[in-house]
Amino acid sequence: MNKQPDPSHIMQTATAFWASKVLLTAVEFDLFSVLAKESMTAMQLGERLNIHPRGRFDFLDALVALKFLDRDGDGPDGLYRNTPETDAFLNKASPAYIGGLPEMLNARLFGFWNELGTALRTGEAQSEAKIHGKPIFEELYASESSLGTFLEAMTGFQFANFLQLAEKFDFSRFNSVCDVGGALALLSRTVASKHDHLVFNTFDLPPVAPLAQKQIDAAGMTDRISVVSGDFFRDELPKADVITMGNILHDWNLEKKKVLIQKAYDALPAGGAFIAVENLIDDARRENAFGLLMSLNMLIEFGDAFDYTAADFRAWCSEVGFSDFDVIPLAGPTSAAVAYKGV
Ligand SMILES: C[S@@+](CC[C@H](N)C(=O)[O-])C[C@H]1O[C@@H](n2cnc3c(N)ncnc32)[C@H](O)[C@@H]1O
Repeated sequence: MNKQPDPSHIMQTATAFWASKVLLTAVEFDLFSVLAKESMTAMQLGERLNIHPRGRFDFLDALVALKFLDRDGDGPDGLYRNTPETDAFLNKASPAYIGGLPEMLNARLFGFWNELGTALRTGEAQSEAKIHGKPIFEELYASESSLGTFLEAMTGFQFANFLQLAEKFDFSRFNSVCDVGGALALLSRTVASKHDHLVFNTFDLPPVAPLAQKQIDAAGMTDRISVVSGDFFRDELPKADVITMGNILHDWNLEKKKVLIQKAYDALPAGGAFIAVENLIDDARRENAFGLLMSLNMLIEFGDAFDYTAADFRAWCSEVGFSDFDVIPLAGPTSAAVAYKGV
């Protein structure tokens, strides 16, 4: 007997932005940092966060039903508290805070994605690049607050991936790493904490340097991680046994991707490894929905930039001379695509 079609998947996806906006607004209100200190009733939270009585219970109970809050008791006396996950990752006092990502999604991308239809019709960016006509990093880095928000958001995307990279990639036969487009030096700090023998350069645009240095100093890793400022299209990359690029290639069109791959090849010794940490799309482009959505996000952000498959990576890297390849699954939809320079 044929199974009746079920509309629930359609309905769930069609309304998914409701749940997304509830979570993003909770981060915007810093609800999880407030609740990290003590459980509170809806009345207390409403007054503390300035939430109108009409929305208080709906908002907080939706967060309970969505499993971002727990509640002891029901009704006006019910006490709301963080789940272990929101306490660890969305409470600003936690060292594992990844709220920079939802903050950025809320402040920038939620609105820009409203123009997905326009992006699909025109092939053009719908971000600040469209509004001001300037290259996106120049635009984002023009103010200290948008620079900080963007870099913190990158931490949210990659936190779990870099931990897994540190565990799964065999760093034992290498001595040095250069993380290209290293942002707040998260990759360097994470890998350094697991592999005592390695030294690092974290390479990024000049405005990023003081913020990266602050994080490195706070981690007590000043003697192992050096901040190098430069422009990866104008300057050579610092030489290292391993060159890493986390979510870098997907920011650019094919021509610029190939320039960066060539630069990585040139900066490596024979036997060196080039690692791209990205939401690699499966080769048949059927499975990794997040990777495909990320690629649409790159259309919204940059226009001609796009995400890619392991087969694409292998083909582009073969063109410049890399000879061996590997793919290491990391957290969720992310992988490390590895290309080795022949000995
Ligand atoms: C999408 S973020 C990725 C950050 C980090 N690697 C990660 O995986 O989260 C791109 C990074 O590339 C840096 N970047 C952009 N253009 C650059 C350029 N021309 N030269 C050096 N770094 C650049 C940005 O400052 C930013 O830190």
